[in-house]
Amino acid sequence: MKVCMIGAGYVGLSTATVLAELGHDVTCVDTDTEKVAQLERGRLPFYEPGLDELVARAREQGRMAFTADLRGGLDDASVVMLAVGTPALPDGRCDLSSVWQAVDTLAHTLSHPATVIIKSTVPPGTADRIRRYLAEAGHDENAVHVVANPEFLREGSAVTDTRHPDRIVVGVTSREALAHVRALYRGIEAPYVVTSPTGAEMIKYAANAFLATKISFINEMARICDAYGVTIDDVAEGIGLDSRIGRAFLRAGLGYGGSCLPKDVAALIHAARDKGVEPLLLPAVQQVNVTQPDVYADKLRDALGGLAGKHVAIWGIAFKPDTDDARASQALALIDRLLAAGCTVRAYDPLARCTRPDVAWAADPYQAAGNADALVVATEWEIFRHADWGRVKAVMRGNVVVDGRNCLTPESLQSHGLRYVGVGRP
Ligand code: UDX
Repeated sequence: MKVCMIGAGYVGLSTATVLAELGHDVTCVDTDTEKVAQLERGRLPFYEPGLDELVARAREQGRMAFTADLRGGLDDASVVMLAVGTPALPDGRCDLSSVWQAVDTLAHTLSHPATVIIKSTVPPGTADRIRRYLAEAGHDENAVHVVANPEFLREGSAVTDTRHPDRIVVGVTSREALAHVRALYRGIEAPYVVTSPTGAEMIKYAANAFLATKISFINEMARICDAYGVTIDDVAEGIGLDSRIGRAFLRAGLGYGGSCLPKDVAALIHAARDKGVEPLLLPAVQQVNVTQPDVYADKLRDALGGLAGKHVAIWGIAFKPDTDDARASQALALIDRLLAAGCTVRAYDPLARCTRPDVAWAADPYQAAGNADALVVATEWEIFRHADWGRVKAVMRGNVVVDGRNCLTPESLQSHGLRYVGVGRP
């Protein structure tokens, strides 16, 4: 099939690459001409393990092209996928301007039958609005289908997640559109959940809100465990082995960040209120997450006997390992707290960057730790988990190591004379 992918971000590029692997001809369109030029030179605009090689292979096989010209990209594509960004507006609502800009161009340009697949995460009701808009612009609903088909891939494992999804969620209004989607994904083994477009959009928000809830739940439990001298890892295992609960997403730490979980919880709260439903649980989930960096700032304050004038090293800026993405990173939220309390901060991350001018940058983890009173591991990169703790102790001025992701082995730090501070880890 000929596929036009609108938006060359994480979701767009990863999906496009896997579709090319499945044998489709994919043209990726992005309004960012610099990004398109970079992609044409074979450079990805972000880091995602393994993706660059797959893009190169798809291009060699002539299955993948890039352009900034949507009209050209549409050409005779039978599938048009929308994977443009839907970031949060300052009030937490979902910014749909890129979606509508693309839909508007589609409305004026599409001149052949096509299935328009909405991959971007959008508030419930958006695909239906797009369908009505295209119909009002004169497109026959039996020729131009609109489908909601949300994406569940994670940064850092985007390719594997796209090749082996847990499920394919399709929101359709016609059997024909469903057949197009099945033909597109032929070769991918996954159960289908077929529902209405609004149902599919709701599933995406519910999935991310539930994941956020699990994390905030375990973080609140970790606070309580701290007070009782109980190990949160045991609690997570003890509840996680209950198949109704499951072990995933029960790792206590600084909390969730990234481009999806925080934004989608906020957008779902707005979606609920728009219909007169006052959510009770979701704001609490947010509240635990927003205050989690405070828990760590307090731990640091206790361990150092005050924060003003202290030198703190931060290992990890990315919102999670194996990505260069620092959007809504809890590491940055903690840095804000520490700077406000009068600390000086020196940071290191293998890929992500902190652009704050008041944060000094180090060339490697040990330089960051040099002369520090305390070290905080804010992202569980492999190199931090297996650091040379003897070397860390030798270069630090103090001996406090705060494990912001409960990812270190306390004994191995203690054996080098370091003081380990985790959460829910007495
Ligand atoms: C998420 C969803 O998992 C994915 O399905 C959706 O498509 C996009 O949003 P992503 O943002 O890439 O994916 O990251 P994810 O792996 O879900 O992690 C989100 C955040 O939660 C990270 O900051 C991570 O450190 C944190 N986290 C995760 C925890 O604090 N504890 C956990 O147990 C798991």
